[in-house]
Amino acid sequence: MISISKITVNGYENSCFAEGRLQFGWQIAGDGRDIRQEAYQIQIGEVEDFSEIVWDTGRTESSASQFVEVTGFAPEHLKKYYVRVMVWDNRGQKSDWHSECSFFYICREQFSWKAWWTAPAAPLAQTQGGLYIRKRFTVKGKIQKAVLTSAAQGIYQPYLDGKRISDELFLPGWTAYENRIQYQIWDITEDLKQGQEHMMGCILAPGWYRGRLGETGRGMYGERIAWIAQIYLYYEDGQTEVILTDQQCRCHQAPLLLADLYDGEIYDARLEIPGWCTPQAKDTGWTSAETEAAEAEKLWPQKVQGVSQHECFEGKELYTPAGEHCIDFGQNMAGLVAFSVKGQPGDKVEFTCFEALDREGNVYTENLRSAGQKIVYYCKGEGEESYMPEFSYQGFRYIHINSWPGEVLADKIKANAVYSDIPFYGTFTSDHPLVNRLMENIKWSMKSNFVDVPTDCPQRDERLGWTGDAQIFSETAVYLANVYGFFEKWLYDVAGEQLEDGGVPHIVPDILRFEDQSGDWLLSQGTHSAAAWADCMVLIPWRLYQYYGNKKILEIFYDNMKRWIDFMWQHSKGYIWNYMLQFGDWLALDAAEGSYFGATPNDLTCTAYFAYSTGIFRKAAEALGKEEDSRIYGQLYQDICNAFCSHFLKLDGMLRINTQTALAMALHFGLLPKEHVQKNAEELRWRIRENGDHMTTGFMGTPCILAALSENGFTEDAYRLFLREEYPSWLYQVKKGATTVWEHLDGMKSDGTMWSSDMNSFNHYAYGAVAGWLFTQAAGIRSLEEAPGFKKFIMNPKLSWKLPQGECRTETPYGETAVSWKFDLPDGWIRFQVPPNAEAEILLGPEVHIKDTDGLQFCEKDGYLRATAGSGIHTITCEINKMQ
Ligand code: BGC
Repeated sequence: MISISKITVNGYENSCFAEGRLQFGWQIAGDGRDIRQEAYQIQIGEVEDFSEIVWDTGRTESSASQFVEVTGFAPEHLKKYYVRVMVWDNRGQKSDWHSECSFFYICREQFSWKAWWTAPAAPLAQTQGGLYIRKRFTVKGKIQKAVLTSAAQGIYQPYLDGKRISDELFLPGWTAYENRIQYQIWDITEDLKQGQEHMMGCILAPGWYRGRLGETGRGMYGERIAWIAQIYLYYEDGQTEVILTDQQCRCHQAPLLLADLYDGEIYDARLEIPGWCTPQAKDTGWTSAETEAAEAEKLWPQKVQGVSQHECFEGKELYTPAGEHCIDFGQNMAGLVAFSVKGQPGDKVEFTCFEALDREGNVYTENLRSAGQKIVYYCKGEGEESYMPEFSYQGFRYIHINSWPGEVLADKIKANAVYSDIPFYGTFTSDHPLVNRLMENIKWSMKSNFVDVPTDCPQRDERLGWTGDAQIFSETAVYLANVYGFFEKWLYDVAGEQLEDGGVPHIVPDILRFEDQSGDWLLSQGTHSAAAWADCMVLIPWRLYQYYGNKKILEIFYDNMKRWIDFMWQHSKGYIWNYMLQFGDWLALDAAEGSYFGATPNDLTCTAYFAYSTGIFRKAAEALGKEEDSRIYGQLYQDICNAFCSHFLKLDGMLRINTQTALAMALHFGLLPKEHVQKNAEELRWRIRENGDHMTTGFMGTPCILAALSENGFTEDAYRLFLREEYPSWLYQVKKGATTVWEHLDGMKSDGTMWSSDMNSFNHYAYGAVAGWLFTQAAGIRSLEEAPGFKKFIMNPKLSWKLPQGECRTETPYGETAVSWKFDLPDGWIRFQVPPNAEAEILLGPEVHIKDTDGLQFCEKDGYLRATAGSGIHTITCEINKMQ
């Protein structure tokens, strides 16, 4: 039996909108081994039951099940299509139709924005709270189709005839608003009636557009918030009509008196206007709207899933020694607290969201810096009333209740995690409970910081798209969830905000350019182009290409990638690169007392990244068939590597700078001549041992250190470092009760005191990049560089008796992929799961002695046992040497 388990359009499952060239993909499920697709058939219909088929490929002989383009099919603008796929395999089996996929097609060129940005006159439009804006309209004839498109300068929730029409939060999402604002599209055909009056509207709040951002700023993008919307009415008689936001819109202050991403919300339920967005609503007390023309080229369709609510946590009541009344939700997160309460009109609910308790077990809010994270709600006094703030989000595990009418009922207070709607699939489980919890923590830090843009942290007055954090974590992110669209959206902004000379901002969307940084001790030194941060422009597209196999991502950003390499080239001297403000090995433990900057010199870290990114850029040029560039940048890569060696290697081939980070980067980035690799790897091992078996690395060295060891024969040392439980280590924080990854390895010291409150997030994914090592090295699941996308891939587990039982799962574009193992005496087993229509190259090191190959044909080559495995589950029985 074979079946299709998933269909994607342009990489998304049930993608709302598709534009441009359409690419279809699907996954095959089936029992048995070696399933290979021989042919496929795609049908595209306009109705869900496929009674009207607009395109049929017929049976097409091909093994391709990803990036399949349908030639000849010309989709129409603003039309919804349904897709179904059927396949035949090499064993003569045929699947049924799988049809759970639909998409809305948009042709950007055909989209004409005629609507106006609408807002009430100042000062109402400059509110720090929320507004109601609405527009009444009449549907004249019989509707064939109706589509609502809408966007905001601010964040908005769309309404039609009293009903909220989307569960997505924080629309239109955060982009580099000066360049582009996303608009959303909804099919509202079913909601409109011939001859009737309707009301469209929105609740609008400042959000990223006009709320606080960064340490001092408010209103970075504009002074007033505004809404724009357009309804296309396609009548059955062939006529069309467009309803626009314009001066006829009506505006009113909403009950939201404050809505700020950092500070939280103040909501006075007494000010609610029941039925404010229904056709029956009266206009008394509503003001007219002022309008401003929209620049149509700045409005882009939202293609990727936005933010929504996910897991819901119950809380437990807690009184701190200082007598503070708190609720503990047991999980740190980016989230929204929902509650129900009974009170008299004007009774006040007030609570503060926070992440951690201090040494004494009391409320600790200092690390939030200036972010208030406070929710205030005034009751309307009509029995039980429920509320959830939705125009801000908080980073928290606990709430501290400052005021509550009557008795606090913990079961009436819930925390809802919010994050971008990306499908999570990666897991790593083992017989080591601390490792399992660490993995959960990494996932939670990812969830908490994948809130429309990749952020550094979700709680303090930052929550910004720090490019370095995203770059460092991106290798791990692809194994944990389908982040293709999420990153693609953000990369459009990185590219859009790239400087003329190719420099790349530290933060994207780049809010630093709106503020005078001269008073900031750090950022006054430079607001763009730091190694490891700016390299996101090259490395993230490459990692997406490697994992998902889609060359389109390289085509889109190729010029931006090149401009970043050229920037480094231009600013280098003799191929040694360094430039203005560098964060270097940020937060490394070998930093001088009180400093954030690690001990590894910037010349080295910058040049190492210069070489690494250039090497990757050359490969991108090659992948796109750009021969001239491939030659030029291949030569540049050689020149940088040579300069790196002549500068940083001693005559005996040892690195002159022997910090753990210098060694780990040089080794993992492959910058050393072959003959010097082993001794430098030994030096790294020695440096760690000499340092009491712990790492001293920061943002740059930490993601490299374990791989630098295990790639060079020191797998046991990598495990020793990874499994260390005392400070400093990954597991120390787990033992300290962490439920997310900390910004500092010693965010909370062993005596319970805190690292400086300046920079002490308990929810930062950067060090979670260690999960990348679990997937790519411990379980050894890697794409083949020359054939990305996992049609053919590597399974090269580097296992250890230190972690004798485990299972690592991820989802490649072809389906679920896993390596699991159990060591026992005398024999153990290793199991490989390869998805249908894909093939794995299994590589096992000399420590594995195979007893039963489960039908796989192993041969020995270059010190490895190698076998090619088709789809299915393959379990080999083996004995594994115990190494020290
Ligand atoms: C952020 C980091 C970021 C760093 C750069 C911090 O404030 O939280 O994660 O990369 O600044 O200096």
